[in-house]
Amino acid sequence: MEKIGVAVIGATGYVGQRFLTLLDKHPFFEVKTLVASERSQGKTYGEAMQGRWKLDSPMPAQYSDMRIKSSRDVKDFCKDIDMAFCAVDMKKEDIIFLEEAIAREEVVVVSNNSANRLTDDVPIVIPEINHGHFAVLEAQKKRLGTKKGFIVAKPNCSVQSFVPALFPLLDYGLDSIMVSTYQAVSGAGKTLEEWPEMLGNVIPNISGEEEKTENEPLKILGSVADGKIVNLSGTKISSQCARVAVQEGHLANVWVKFRQKPSRDEILKRWAECVPLPQELKLPLAPQPFLHYFEEIDRPQSRLDAGQEKGMGITLGRLQEDGIFDFSFTCLSANTIRGAAGGAILTAELLYKLGYINQDE
Ligand SMILES: NC(=O)c1ccc[n+]([C@@H]2O[C@H](COP(=O)([O-])OP(=O)(O)OC[C@H]3O[C@@H](n4cnc5c(N)ncnc54)[C@H](OP(=O)(O)O)[C@@H]3O)[C@@H](O)[C@H]2O)c1
Repeated sequence: MEKIGVAVIGATGYVGQRFLTLLDKHPFFEVKTLVASERSQGKTYGEAMQGRWKLDSPMPAQYSDMRIKSSRDVKDFCKDIDMAFCAVDMKKEDIIFLEEAIAREEVVVVSNNSANRLTDDVPIVIPEINHGHFAVLEAQKKRLGTKKGFIVAKPNCSVQSFVPALFPLLDYGLDSIMVSTYQAVSGAGKTLEEWPEMLGNVIPNISGEEEKTENEPLKILGSVADGKIVNLSGTKISSQCARVAVQEGHLANVWVKFRQKPSRDEILKRWAECVPLPQELKLPLAPQPFLHYFEEIDRPQSRLDAGQEKGMGITLGRLQEDGIFDFSFTCLSANTIRGAAGGAILTAELLYKLGYINQDE
């Protein structure tokens, strides 16, 4: 089988490093092109990454001699590829311009960036939850004037820890949700070593994060109508997001009030029996199971459990009745894997299996 040629844009960044590691020997995709800023342009990946590789696992050897291209040369870097994974630190309007320019080269863009997430015809996808939103891509292609190129976004990294737990409970009616997140330093592209003022510290604000935590779930749990995605209505979400001295793993404490309150056993049963499409299709990065509930009262923990299912699993625990809301519980996911590169690759695997990549209309 000929593999789909892909580019990683932002290949030198923290998420880019995760992409390259997870795409090493991938059964569907082959990395043909590495792209970053003009600072890295023309260097080999090995040269550009001297002293910058942040992951515990070593850099896969096949990337070291590849020359990095500039994100300014869209036509050139789109030549040999059908799909681009994009994770860049750029201004919102520049990212929108870049991602649309890539799609217009008839390349599928799977984006880690927030810039396009609230565009009406760009789905924010958690593949286990809302692959039905791919239906909006026809309208997006019409807007962009493309046949094969389109943009799909992956949600904010903290959203991926708790929306999977809410999804199986949707038909009990989600009335009000309160979320408090404890987010790792890798979410800011950093290690603890290079952020010493984080040690022994909690920072009670992450710029723009609460807005994303409150808005993106409503779009993910919404539906497609008239060529756009319509948010879930009647559900209120309030959040507080803090940065904590953890290397990997965003943890969320969640309180939920339902319109029809389920029992604790019913919730546990819904979580245990949740086997969505990527799991049914046994996609390479699909965690088995999707949701793992810990009976131990002190789990999930970032250090012990963020690596569940190679960082793709969602771990849950501490489901208990609440005196103000109906229930509270704790959720955890690996932010740079499930919450970033791994979540994007799983979305791409599903797009590929469903015939959305490299297919003429
Ligand atoms: N870290 C996470 O857990 C996480 C999770 C979900 C989403 N995200 C999102 O993913 C994106 C990248 O995050 P990160 O943590 O990987 O950041 P990072 O480590 O700071 O890396 C930033 C990357 O952007 C590239 N870049 C900067 N300006 C560019 C330009 N003009 N053209 C092309 N590339 C450019 C950099 O290339 P140079 O080396 O050449 O400067 C580098 O590869 C952000 O949008 C972030 O919000 C991150």
